[in-house]
Parts: sequence; structure tokens; C-alpha cells
Amino acid sequence: MTTATIPVIAIDGPSGSGKGTLCRRLAQQFGFSLLDSGALYRLSALAAQAKGVVFTDGAAVAAVARQMDVSFGADENGAERICLDGEDVTHRVREEKTGELASQVAVLPELRAELVNVQHAARKAPGLVADGRDMGTVIFPEAEVKVFLTASPEERAKRRTKQLQELGKLPADLDPSRMRALTAQVADEIRERDERDRTRKESPLVPAEGALQLDTSSMPAAAVLAEVTALCERKLGIKAR
Ligand code: DC
Repeated sequence: MTTATIPVIAIDGPSGSGKGTLCRRLAQQFGFSLLDSGALYRLSALAAQAKGVVFTDGAAVAAVARQMDVSFGADENGAERICLDGEDVTHRVREEKTGELASQVAVLPELRAELVNVQHAARKAPGLVADGRDMGTVIFPEAEVKVFLTASPEERAKRRTKQLQELGKLPADLDPSRMRALTAQVADEIRERDERDRTRKESPLVPAEGALQLDTSSMPAAAVLAEVTALCERKLGIKAR
């Protein structure tokens, strides 16, 4: 199989739209590799911060990204483990703060160009599920399957605060009025980040032409998975495990 014939399933959309869960399940059931492109921007931001590089200096941030030593692995329970320059950053990389920093460095054309080859190198037989913002538009425009997920900022904020409770980072019995206030604040942050991701000049967050667009605000994750699985099976002529 030459690289050009290795199938790609490109899943784009903002964070909290259900992309991460969908991509992991698709990769599992088709036995494909998974590219978490957001993690590359998150790691680049953490590396730039550690080196004291200003986020407006595109060439310097790109140079840091070129030199960073990243390893994606799993701990003894099979849970994700990410190391950056010898330091375990598994939890830091997923923090809201890190997502915000990632969105800031993601506007830099030098960094985006630097990360193109890394992303192309993830395309391995028998196939790739690519999770990001510009998978179907810029990185893999030839992808056989393109999907664009959305969900309202309010719904995404609710999912995020629920996740924080599950992770024990917020009390499970948080007072309903405090919970509402917190969810509203998270929704505002989400709107701000969406605006930056959507309106940036370089590879903005927009649906690729021909992408299946799904609003997951009131769709259970299982229904999203079923619909995208059926599309992949039809387009790629393969069967889910
Ligand atoms: O998907 P995520 O939340 O891990 O992404 C973090 C940030 O990285 C997001 O705000 C925008 C940026 N990003 C990007 O610009 N292009 C991608 N392909 C993936 C992420």
C-alpha cells in the first residue's frame, strides 16, 4: 500500500463536540491509527512556555516544536501517557488552560507548517482516523471520509463541567446555582476560543466541502458513532469489528 492509498477518516470540529470519543471508537473498531492533532498544538504551547518563548514569535515557536521530544504511550492500565522532554505532561496537556494556549499558538503559520509532516507521517496502513480542525480541509484534503461535528457552546460547557466532576476536579455535589454560573463562564470561554479558531487566517475551523455535518447537541454519542460508522463502511468498503 503506498501512502496515497491508505484511507483517512477526517473528523473536524471544536472541542467538546464529541470528536475525541468518536475518533477513539472509530480507530478501535476499524483497527486504524489515531492522530490527535490538537495534542500537537497543546504540546507545542507547553514546550514554548517552558522555554520562555513569546507566543507571537512564529519562527521561535516552530523551532521549539521541531526540537521537542514527545512520546505517546500507555500506563500499566492502558491509560494514555504523554511525555514532553522527559516530563510526564499527561494531565497538563488536557487542561483547559493548555487548550487556550494551544489556540493562541495555532494561529502561527510557521508552527502550522512545521506540524504538517508530523501529521502526514501518522498515515499508516491499514488506515488513519485524524482528529482536528483542518484535517479535511488542509492536512488530508483527499480523505475519503470527512465529518464536521458541532454542538452549542452551552452543551459543550455542560459536557466539560460534567467531565471535570468525573475527574474529581469539581465537587460532585456542587450547588446548582454555582454549577450554572460555572457552566456559563465555561460557555463564554468556549465562544471566545471558537471565534479565534474560526476567524484565523491560517487553516480556520470550517467544514470541508462535502463533509457530513452533525450537530451533536442532543445526539447521544452512540448515535453519532453509528451514523459515522455507516458512512465509513459505505465509503471505504470495510466492516467495523
Ligand atoms: O482539539 P483540541 O482542543 O485539543 O485543540 C486545542 C487547540 O489547538 C484548538 O483550540 C485549536 C488548535 N488546533 C488547531 O488549530 N488545529 C488542529 N488540527 C487541532 C487543534
